[in-house]
Amino acid sequence: MGDDEDMTTMSSEAWDARYAASSNVWSITPNEFVVEFLSEMPAGRVIDLAGGEGRNALWLAARGWQAEVADFSQVALDKFLSRAAEEGLADKCFATLADATHPTAYKLAPADLGLIAYLQIDAAGLSNAIVSLTEALAPGATLFGVWHERENLTRGFGGPQVPEMLPTKDELAAACERAGLRIRTLEIRERHFETDGVARVGIDVVLAATR
Ligand SMILES: C[S@@+](CC[C@H](N)C(=O)[O-])C[C@H]1O[C@@H](n2cnc3c(N)ncnc32)[C@H](O)[C@@H]1O
Repeated sequence: MGDDEDMTTMSSEAWDARYAASSNVWSITPNEFVVEFLSEMPAGRVIDLAGGEGRNALWLAARGWQAEVADFSQVALDKFLSRAAEEGLADKCFATLADATHPTAYKLAPADLGLIAYLQIDAAGLSNAIVSLTEALAPGATLFGVWHERENLTRGFGGPQVPEMLPTKDELAAACERAGLRIRTLEIRERHFETDGVARVGIDVVLAATR
């Protein structure tokens, strides 16, 4: 996400404190791969798992989607709902306090789109999250995800600095197989951005799959 802090092993309380400490922890614009892959999708119902302050969900809601952000940080969810109200999107936006790694009764299930952006947790937890989100999707729906990939440790900037929190393509493929997802795209992509006027590159992995 172009962020240089280590977000490993953070509890919901630690995330709450982080979200409370600044007005926008992440950029307010959607992730560039979300825009690239999802711009053409017809509006429907999206569940943004670990959606934080909701930058991606708000972008989709502005395009006509009904958007649910699920996150284990109540502070992040409150910020998402405040911004939805400010932008006149309150009737399209829903929030669910949930641990992504546990089965959850999502409000917008069955959804047309499941979204996961930078949920950097260990492979077992991420596999559980992908299974849980897939169960909330309609047959034929899309699951789209983007993460800092393991190569980011050696040739990328920012993100967690321990390999276990940086999924590989193989780990994501195994999670998709367990969830019953058919992979359409699973590729490593570079993301170019600036921090403090310095050009940086992030190494991400992007997934698009069909339930
Ligand atoms: C790096 S932020 C990404 C936020 C958002 N997806 C985005 O791209 O702007 C990671 C988010 O994951 C959430 N998170 C981390 N572990 C979680 C878990 N086990 N269950 C639910 N949310 C979690 C954090 O609260 C945080 O909002």
